[in-house]
Amino acid sequence: MTLKCVYFHILICYSVLIGFGKKVWPVPYRRFDHRPPTDPYCQALYPFCPTGDPDGRIPYMKDNDVISVFRLQTPVWEFKYGDLLGKFHIMHDAIGFASSDTQKNYTMEWYELFQLGNCTFPHDREDIMAPFWCNQGAACFFDGIDDVHWKQNGTLEKVGEISGKQFNDLARWVQEDNKTGIYYETWTVRSDPVPNSTTWFDSYDCSQFVHRTYRKLAELGAKLSSKTQTNYTKIYLYSGEPTYLGDDGSIFDQPSMKTLATDIKKFYHSFQPHQSILQFIRSLIDVYNKVVLEKTFYLFYNFEYWHLPMKPPYIQITFEEVPLPSMWP
Ligand SMILES: *[C@@H]1O[C@H](CO)[C@@H](O)[C@H](O)[C@H]1NC(C)=O
Ligand SMILES: *[C@@H]1O[C@H](CO)[C@@H](O)[C@H](O)[C@H]1NC(C)=O
Ligand SMILES: *[C@@H]1O[C@H](CO)[C@@H](O)[C@H](O)[C@H]1NC(C)=O
Ligand SMILES: *[C@@H]1O[C@H](CO)[C@@H](O)[C@H](O)[C@H]1NC(C)=O
Ligand SMILES: *[C@@H]1O[C@H](CO)[C@@H](O)[C@H](O)[C@H]1NC(C)=O
Ligand SMILES: *[C@@H]1O[C@H](CO)[C@@H](O)[C@H](O)[C@H]1NC(C)=O
Repeated sequence: MTLKCVYFHILICYSVLIGFGKKVWPVPYRRFDHRPPTDPYCQALYPFCPTGDPDGRIPYMKDNDVISVFRLQTPVWEFKYGDLLGKFHIMHDAIGFASSDTQKNYTMEWYELFQLGNCTFPHDREDIMAPFWCNQGAACFFDGIDDVHWKQNGTLEKVGEISGKQFNDLARWVQEDNKTGIYYETWTVRSDPVPNSTTWFDSYDCSQFVHRTYRKLAELGAKLSSKTQTNYTKIYLYSGEPTYLGDDGSIFDQPSMKTLATDIKKFYHSFQPHQSILQFIRSLIDVYNKVVLEKTFYLFYNFEYWHLPMKPPYIQITFEEVPLPSMWP
């Protein structure tokens, strides 16, 4: 166990103590001390970050440069499926930067290494008992902003200006965030579809990266504002209080847990991980039907399984407002 890990455990104990034994919701997303190489079983159909620097380097800006910050949003795979997803409002989010000193501009985004299907559903491998996940996600920083791509059915809006120094500070933070937050999480799990309901688990996806980045920018002193409503895609599950089940080792390697292990495998068996976005939507509909019938969902979060006692409206895809942060007075 590394020192960081011990520290993390102490923090958890402390949080539990001050909560007088109450569980902490939402369950904190686990950070790692480094990103492990991906398993050779996971093969990307489309290469991750093809035009980014292979080592994830971000160019250094002059301290007194003025960098424009852009909010970028576009429907997912808009070219292939046009209108259909517009209705589902499954959007992809990114951030753009443009240097006034060099006139060069850049795009920064966070997404799945092996696409959304692989981050949402595991593989059933004959040689391995536990479901197998290809669920890493990472940040990609690359040269250029493709104005047409973002503008045409989405958003390209300047939301602020920062100094070169603020940009360099942000770059360091992005690299650290990218090393410690390594896997994608599609679902946000809540108790009810009302604003003051309990969130059991938060998603960890492209829009969460964008929100984290905006919060970091605000913390660094940036002023951000948008002329339009800033809405983002959320994929919700609704359930009563979740129950912790265990990890691969405690569920799939224990003969006494055979029934649970079989149930989890059966649950995921119907969904295909390597699918197009259209098939993904179909799988979501399949999940919905299964969940309405069985009232059960086995959530994989922090490399551990939880049982969700599902309840109406079970699953929702929303496109809702998350305002830009304003930490400045
Ligand atoms: C999902 O993972 C499988 C297993 O590695 C791979 O064959 C497939 O190409 C992946 N899908 C995508 C869209 O990358
Ligand atoms: C983030 O991590 C991925 C995977 O290791 C890497 O390909 C990418 O270049 C990194 N991005 C940044 C901005 O550090
Ligand atoms: C934008 O939407 C229109 C109408 O829905 C469609 O014809 C067009 O191809 C879309 N443009 C892009 C770049 O996806
Ligand atoms: C980014 O740079 C390209 C090439 O100079 C330019 O065509 C485009 O308008 C720029 N976009 C933004 C948002 O600055
Ligand atoms: C949540 O809001 C609803 C109405 O919007 C109210 O009836 C309910 O009492 C609130 N619950 C809590 C825990 O604040
Ligand atoms: C954006 O979100 C707000 C509140 O969350 C909602 O009322 C509005 O309809 C959404 N806009 C679109 C285009 O969906």
